[in-house]
Amino acid sequence: MAHTDEPSETTRSAGQSTGDASLPWLALAEDYELARAREDSLDRLVEWPAQRDLLGDVAGRSVLDLGCGNGAKLAELVEAGARDCVGVDISGNFVSVTPPGMELIQGDLSELDAVPALTGRKFDRITFLQSIGYAKDPVSTLQAARAMLADDGFILLTRTHPIRYAVERAEKNGTSLGEEYYSTASYTYFHDNWNDRIALTKQAYTVSDLINLFSAAGLWIEQAIEPQLSEDARRRYPHKQAVLNKYLGILIFKLRPLPAR
Ligand SMILES: C[S@@+](CC[C@H](N)C(=O)[O-])C[C@H]1O[C@@H](n2cnc3c(N)ncnc32)[C@H](O)[C@@H]1O
Repeated sequence: MAHTDEPSETTRSAGQSTGDASLPWLALAEDYELARAREDSLDRLVEWPAQRDLLGDVAGRSVLDLGCGNGAKLAELVEAGARDCVGVDISGNFVSVTPPGMELIQGDLSELDAVPALTGRKFDRITFLQSIGYAKDPVSTLQAARAMLADDGFILLTRTHPIRYAVERAEKNGTSLGEEYYSTASYTYFHDNWNDRIALTKQAYTVSDLINLFSAAGLWIEQAIEPQLSEDARRRYPHKQAVLNKYLGILIFKLRPLPAR
């Protein structure tokens, strides 16, 4: 197998980040938001509509968005009636105007206990939208989130389909899909749409790793979806359908706490 990155572990983890995986975001955050705002971004066309749909009616509900980016998604939820909302992101690259009823805090989702605004708080909805991959110890981060869920609350968590990275690495390394999908090596890549000079490093993971992560954190999967473009969007943005045909897209999980054992 022709890996360019050294394996950092020999056993499978639940998808934790490697080293300072979050550091690139201090430079990348602005470019990410510019890319996300484009008319043909997959976040705009597929991911956010699907995430929003699964969040359902948020009127009167409190939301904690961990790895919230610039906070624009949370602001939309507040506009839709959510209240007492908090967004936490390591970048501190936040929208300049926030509606009443939400607070944006520069903080680390690996150290939620160190965020004073979260002390003793409960939330109806907690979101990890493309952010759990940056947790140093994702089990303990999810356990901390679970402890902050109000009665009948749930966690909405999304992650890139691991097949996507396996396809990319197989092409780059001249290996096979299976070799890369089941690799336990960390890998470094550049996201062309965001900033092709800022490297991101991730630990490889499989779908089973994600399921085992949720189980280890005391969560069960109420629903899982793999959102795709609408018929109309397929016609208007065939280049984006080509991306999904090759890389599949993201996985979205609605997670509920298991009863205490
Ligand atoms: C792919 S972006 C997703 C942003 C947003 N959730 C969305 O769906 O558009 C990943 C986000 O995670 C944030 N992030 C990375 N490491 C983090 C950490 N340790 N603590 C909090 N946020 C982090 C980044 O700054 C970035 O905003």
